Amino acid sequence: MAKLTVRDVDVKGKRVFMRVDYNVPLEEKNGKMVITDATRIVETLPTLKLLIQKGGRLILTAHLGRPKGKREASMSLRPVADKLQELLGQPVAFADDCIGEQVEKIAAGLKDGEVALLENVRYYNEEEANDPAFAEKLAKVADVYVNDAFGAAHRAHASTEGVARVVAKRGGQCAAGLLMERELKFLGDELEKPARPFVVILGGAKVSDKIKVIDRLLEKADTILIGGAMAYTFRLAHGQKVGKSLVEPDRQEMALAAEAKAKQLKVNFELPSDVVVAKPVPTDKLNKKGKPVMDFVNIQTVTDAIPDDSEGFSIGEQTAAHYAQIILGAKTILWNGPMGMFEDARFAAGTNAVAKAVAEATQKHGAKSIIGGGDSVKALNQAKLGDQVSFMSTGGGASLEFLEGAVLPGVAALSDK
Ligand code: 3PG
Ligand code: MG
Repeated sequence: MAKLTVRDVDVKGKRVFMRVDYNVPLEEKNGKMVITDATRIVETLPTLKLLIQKGGRLILTAHLGRPKGKREASMSLRPVADKLQELLGQPVAFADDCIGEQVEKIAAGLKDGEVALLENVRYYNEEEANDPAFAEKLAKVADVYVNDAFGAAHRAHASTEGVARVVAKRGGQCAAGLLMERELKFLGDELEKPARPFVVILGGAKVSDKIKVIDRLLEKADTILIGGAMAYTFRLAHGQKVGKSLVEPDRQEMALAAEAKAKQLKVNFELPSDVVVAKPVPTDKLNKKGKPVMDFVNIQTVTDAIPDDSEGFSIGEQTAAHYAQIILGAKTILWNGPMGMFEDARFAAGTNAVAKAVAEATQKHGAKSIIGGGDSVKALNQAKLGDQVSFMSTGGGASLEFLEGAVLPGVAALSDK
């Protein structure tokens, strides 16, 4: 990587202003916000430990949720400070704000190797607006800037981009953290010249969300396997009946063009031959939005037309077996997006079969498997196979944009080596 990393920087006695992605899922339990998945915090520990060992004075900044410029108590980073303290095994000071006197006081009191976490930076609208004056305020406590927030690197915000510019302008160094470095290595360098066969598995709801990734990976992959609701738009484009399935009627041409490009480039482009469908029926329970919670009846597998009253929810058994066989022959695997509604056990089999095949290809056949964040990571963890793959990204939107070939503003702002 051509960017400076924390390995290259002398931080002894310096205030290291470090952006992390601690946008973790929280749930309210007995009036307290509890972290339900601390992966994003755990993944920053190597960077933190290295900087602590080097004698830096760490000031961490992060966002949580989308409070839109207001102090939302449910989006406070305080529970994250507690968790970090526990994981790090040393005190983590918490500042009730991300700019201002209190922050400056805490920063001034830090000794070498000590850590503080600042309150949610999105309590200020200026963060998302990448307001230059706000970036200056953040940078008041920054001798060195470190970005380890790969998951937020696709955002050009004050704490991910603006503050780096301020520090660099003063002649300060801006370095990537170890997590950032790993993410860029696996999602970037490792896929530049992949060992073949290179199999790409793409799922998720929409063709429109994934078309840029499909387009780019068609240039590199040997096989692309399509699953998830996205597959129903392809079916529709082929003139098949899709019933009540989630489709994007205005993306049919896009879908057909992707298939045509695959043919031209001699990429094996696979669509599900069978799908699991069900008839959705409203129950008398209401969800948080006041809409009826749905139940699903008449669950069946179809190869052809999806009945008018039914909706597709997963790839079928035959497709899962076929995809698994292809995956088991791969040397490089990239997976982004589940094969169906895996959160519901009745529709999880297809996604689980793919997860199992990816794990087996990695463990038994030495394939390199890279999981592009978001729901595919959730699916692997649900199948208890998260530790059986080569790499799981901590980014959702960021990994998708990076795989599309976009330059991430949070990366671009870092100092070159
Ligand atoms: C994420 O969880 O995807 C990142 O933390 C970015 O959050 P955002 O989508 O609210 O910008
Ligand atoms: Mg997001």
